Amino acid sequence: MFGLMCLLLSAIKVAEISGHVEFTNIKCEPLDKSFSDFEYCYIKAINRSYKYVSLKVNLFKIPVTKVKVNFSVMKRFNGYLPFLYNVTIDACKFFENSNRNPLAQYLSGLFLPFTNMAHKCPFNHSLILDKLPIDHVNNHLTSVLKFPPADYALYTSWIAYDINRANVKVFITLS
Ligand SMILES: *[C@@H]1O[C@H](CO)[C@@H](O)[C@H](O)[C@H]1NC(C)=O
Ligand SMILES: *[C@@H]1O[C@H](CO)[C@@H](O)[C@H](O)[C@H]1NC(C)=O
Ligand SMILES: *[C@@H]1O[C@H](CO)[C@@H](O)[C@H](O)[C@H]1NC(C)=O
Ligand SMILES: *[C@@H]1O[C@H](CO)[C@@H](O)[C@H](O)[C@H]1NC(C)=O
Repeated sequence: MFGLMCLLLSAIKVAEISGHVEFTNIKCEPLDKSFSDFEYCYIKAINRSYKYVSLKVNLFKIPVTKVKVNFSVMKRFNGYLPFLYNVTIDACKFFENSNRNPLAQYLSGLFLPFTNMAHKCPFNHSLILDKLPIDHVNNHLTSVLKFPPADYALYTSWIAYDINRANVKVFITLS
């Protein structure tokens, strides 16, 4: 509850009208290719209004029983600097617990519905993000927060057994 209040308070602070959201880039960085690697990772534009992100990660040491993800929202000034959050979510606890941290719930809602990851640990299969549409990101962001127009990036680190195995960075422009 406290997390949600902070979220709403910070939303009020940065409140401003944001019109249009674009995916501008995605970077998938494997840090330990003996543990996991990206099979693909891209943004695709079908037409002006339909743009999506897809990625697939193959896991080489299954089953994976301990996973954490940390998220930071970055904003571009001279380079990307931490802007809003820097939270670590224990994925295994998250899926065990029905009484979830609202901030974790909110951030994971950005992509979880488009993955095959929304289940309890262990993970014993490739992880797929399938056609996450910019519209979903747009609606999800603007339903709770109104970020000021700027270039943003969502940095995520994927940590298994307390070792950072991969980074995924999604770059977004709000205009
Ligand atoms: C864009 O492509 C999607 C998927 O093929 C389609 O449903 C939609 O109508 C298209 N939009 C425009 C404006 O062409
Ligand atoms: C988030 O916090 C962790 C731990 O304090 C730190 O290592 C990391 O650099 C931070 N990330 C960003 C983007 O500031
Ligand atoms: C993965 O785990 C599920 C559920 O625990 C199990 O049914 C399945 O056989 C496992 N698959 C592999 C490839 O180990
Ligand atoms: C996540 O945390 C790890 C360990 O503290 C840190 O090395 C990494 O930079 C963090 N990632 C992000 C996106 O903040």
